[in-house]
Amino acid sequence: MTAYAGITALITGASKGIGASYARELASRGANLVLVARSEGVLKKLASQLQSAHKVRVDVIAADLFDRSAPQTIADTLTERGIEVDLLINNAGLGASGPFLTRPFGPNLDSVDLNITTLMGMVHSIGSRMLERGRGGIINVSSVAGFQPMPFQASYGATKAFVLSFTEALAEELRATDLRVMAVHPGPVNTGFFDGTDVTMNPKAVTPERIATKSLDDFARGRAISFPGGFSDFATTLVSRVLTRKRVVRLSGNFNRKSGLDNVNDVHDRATTR
Ligand SMILES: NC(=O)c1ccc[n+]([C@@H]2O[C@H](COP(=O)([O-])OP(=O)(O)OC[C@H]3O[C@@H](n4cnc5c(N)ncnc54)[C@H](OP(=O)(O)O)[C@@H]3O)[C@@H](O)[C@H]2O)c1
Repeated sequence: MTAYAGITALITGASKGIGASYARELASRGANLVLVARSEGVLKKLASQLQSAHKVRVDVIAADLFDRSAPQTIADTLTERGIEVDLLINNAGLGASGPFLTRPFGPNLDSVDLNITTLMGMVHSIGSRMLERGRGGIINVSSVAGFQPMPFQASYGATKAFVLSFTEALAEELRATDLRVMAVHPGPVNTGFFDGTDVTMNPKAVTPERIATKSLDDFARGRAISFPGGFSDFATTLVSRVLTRKRVVRLSGNFNRKSGLDNVNDVHDRATTR
């Protein structure tokens, strides 16, 4: 997949942040889209803007991806509408922040359900259809947080370590096929990721547009791994390869303490928490 014109891409978490940027970027490159998230009204508005600006087909599937049956329901909806997906972007994700034992448990479970269970379900239900057709692409959005333990984002870092390991293994399983798989590892990105808490985004955060554009370029170049935020994000992941695990987790904990993640408070009810 070296160009995107005429393909159909399904993007999870397309209502805002990095997912909405993937939608805009792919539509501008001529791709037809299937947008998935819970905010149906937001998705429909984005779909109509992109359809009229770029003359592409944009479908909306409103779905709550905390629901374990969502991947199969989405696959059934695609079949009913006669849509074949060429590129799956598993972008929807969230993370609990703060000290694990003194913060609510629910958001941790939400992030495991969304970042791991649903991501695997989407890969299985849509990827198996791609394999039958003999071609396709899958981009899983992970994070630099997946390369080392993350004190004060303990479950989030662990979910992204899963995405990293799972995606690399899958890419190797599929090496001899025309089905390509890539993991994307952003560092801090200026989105609503910390909405609902008093955590402020890292001032060095890059734009979601940059993540979408650079990672799509990397995928088109045939890469299996993408660091779209730039070299400094890649460099942080080298630390865990050269230092001891004890040293790495200490450094990572100190970094998150300095970022205020050891003392997180809710500022309103988290929309993502059940
Ligand atoms: N921002 C960062 O600094 C950063 C860094 C590294 C990696 N990432 C990763 O990048 C991805 C996107 O993050 P972001 O920063 O763009 O987040 P965001 O702005 O908070 O957007 C999250 C998206 O996920 C969707 N979503 C959340 N829960 C859902 C559910 N139960 N069912 C369906 N959709 C759901 C949201 O849509 P609805 O609310 O409409 O459902 C929204 O479209 C995530 O995987 C994240 O881990 C982010």
